Order: sequence, then structure tokens, then C-alpha cells
Amino acid sequence: MTTPTAPGARTLADFAGTIVLVGAGKMGGAMLDGWLALGLPAASVVVIEPQPTPELTALTSRGLKLNPPPTAVRDTSAIVIAIKPQVAPTVVPTLVPLLAPDTVVLSIMAGRTLAFLESALAPNTALVRAMPNTPAAIGRGITVAAPNAKVSQRQRELVHALLAATGLVEWVTDEGLMDAVTAVSGSGPAYVFLLAEALTLAGTSAGLPPDLAAKLARATVSGSGELLNRSPLDPATLRQNVTSPGGTTAAALDVLMAPDGMAQLMNKAVMAATKRSRELAG
Ligand SMILES: NC(=O)c1ccc[n+]([C@@H]2O[C@H](COP(=O)([O-])OP(=O)(O)OC[C@H]3O[C@@H](n4cnc5c(N)ncnc54)[C@H](OP(=O)(O)O)[C@@H]3O)[C@@H](O)[C@H]2O)c1
Repeated sequence: MTTPTAPGARTLADFAGTIVLVGAGKMGGAMLDGWLALGLPAASVVVIEPQPTPELTALTSRGLKLNPPPTAVRDTSAIVIAIKPQVAPTVVPTLVPLLAPDTVVLSIMAGRTLAFLESALAPNTALVRAMPNTPAAIGRGITVAAPNAKVSQRQRELVHALLAATGLVEWVTDEGLMDAVTAVSGSGPAYVFLLAEALTLAGTSAGLPPDLAAKLARATVSGSGELLNRSPLDPATLRQNVTSPGGTTAAALDVLMAPDGMAQLMNKAVMAATKRSRELAG
């Protein structure tokens, strides 16, 4: 299932009940913005956040409930956990009083497994572990979601709608894939930003003023990304389409595609990130 807006798909406003967001930082805040932009009534949202921004506090005038006592939270359809993984062992067990019989818990915490969530919450809780990425902040993220066996079709549709507010959604049944997902799409934006940095430095070395080199690199990386996004062609075809035999691009690609070139380097990088993700998950 890849499309966030498949024909006939439910929208967030179709789901009854309260959505509880725990942690309205960078990622939780982006999700909340997406939900409200898609028409979820602020009055359906409870946010638990120790240091709310003025923007978040202002949403209370539209009915959003900020840090209410647990007894005031009723009819929870979903709890979305977007706190740092390090604070999870102390925070997650405190969410148990918010669980209703039909609540699905969605965690976007890196490295926190379904087994951890199961042990920190009540037995038989419906759980989804997900890994988003930073382009979620502009609605262009991609999230991979892994459910446990307790998640019903309706709960899955609700989670899909919650995640689709920040971009594409992919579902996997094998939670073990999450380490590689983290290494590719979770950490991937940093690799792309590094590409822009490296291209800037190389342009400066080639004699360009640093400001111009930075501008060229930024526009080239972001413009090419958008071209890739809009094109039906695969990346290899797009690359071949801008490479004339014996030309300047071919000269550069001879270096980047050498046996010790970019593919091998990227492979090593993704392997290292996958291994680190496994280590952090314990
Ligand atoms: N950012 C990404 O690109 C990305 C990608 C994939 C996954 N994730 C995952 O998303 C999660 C959030 O990351 P982030 O970048 O959004 O971090 P963040 O900006 O630090 O947001 C975490 C928020 O949780 C709040 N918080 C701390 N203790 C809390 C508590 N007891 N109850 C409720 N809220 C509490 C924090 O408040 P304070 O500031 O007061 O501590 C902060 O506002 C992490 O688990 C991360 O692994 C992030």
C-alpha cells in the first residue's frame, strides 16, 4: 500500500475519537500541522508536551487540549508517541491510563521495538511502529509502518491517515526491516544534504566563489530531486539522459561510478547505519 490518498481512502475527519499526541517537537509538530491542515478538528486532539510552543498553546483556543489530566482524556482512538527514544522507558508506561479498548498506539521513536512497546504498555495493545523522515516537515516525507498482530483493519486505516498527513506511507509485516529502512529513508536526508555540501566544496575548489558554488549546489540537488519526483523515469534513465558519450558529465561519472565509487561508498554507509540501528535497538 503506497498511496496516501488512494481513491475511497478514509480521511482523518472520518474517524471518531480522540487523537493523543505525546511529544510535539520537530516530528510530532509536523504531524500535528498535517492533521489540522487535512481537516482534523483541533477539538479532537490532546497534546502532551512539557514545553509547548506559543503556536501550540494558541491552538487551545480552537479546542485542542494541552496537558490535561489523564482522567479528562476520553475515547482515545490513537496515541501517537513522538518523544525521544531515550525518555521512552519513563514516559511510555504513564500512557496506560489513556488507553481505551479500541486505542491503537503509533510510535515513531527510532529503535524502540514493538516488543518494548508491548512490555511498557498493557498486554494486547494494538501497536504500530513507524519510521518517518525529515521531509515530513514539508509534507514530502516517507514513512514505513510495521503493525503488531493486534491491529485491526480500521486501526490500520486510521494510522495510515495519520501518517499520510506528512507524505507517503509504506507498510511492512517484518519489523526486522526497520533497521534497513532507518538506514535508507530515516537517515537518507542527511546523505542528500552531504551531497550538496560536497558539491559546494568541489565547486569552490574548481574556482567558483563560495556563495555561487553553494547556490549552484543547492539548486542542483533540490531541482534534480524535484525532477526525479515528477518524472516517471527511473534514476538511472534520468542520469543517462543527461550524459553524452565523451562529454563533461561522462568524465565526472567515470570517477563517481569507478569500482570504489559512490555505489560502493553508499553501500558501506547504509550497512553502517543498519548495524548501528540494530545496536541501538538492543
Ligand atoms: N526528526 C527526524 O527526522 C526523525 C526521523 C525519524 C524518527 N524520528 C523520531 O521521532 C521522535 C521525535 O523526534 P524529534 O526530532 O521530533 O525530537 P524533538 O524535536 O526533541 O521532539 C520530542 C518532543 O517530545 C517532548 N517530550 C519530552 N519529554 C516528554 C514527556 N515526558 N511527555 C511528552 N513530551 C515530551 C520534547 O520536549 P522537550 O523539548 O521539553 O524535551 C520534545 O518537544 C524521536 O523518537 C525520533 O527517533 C525523528
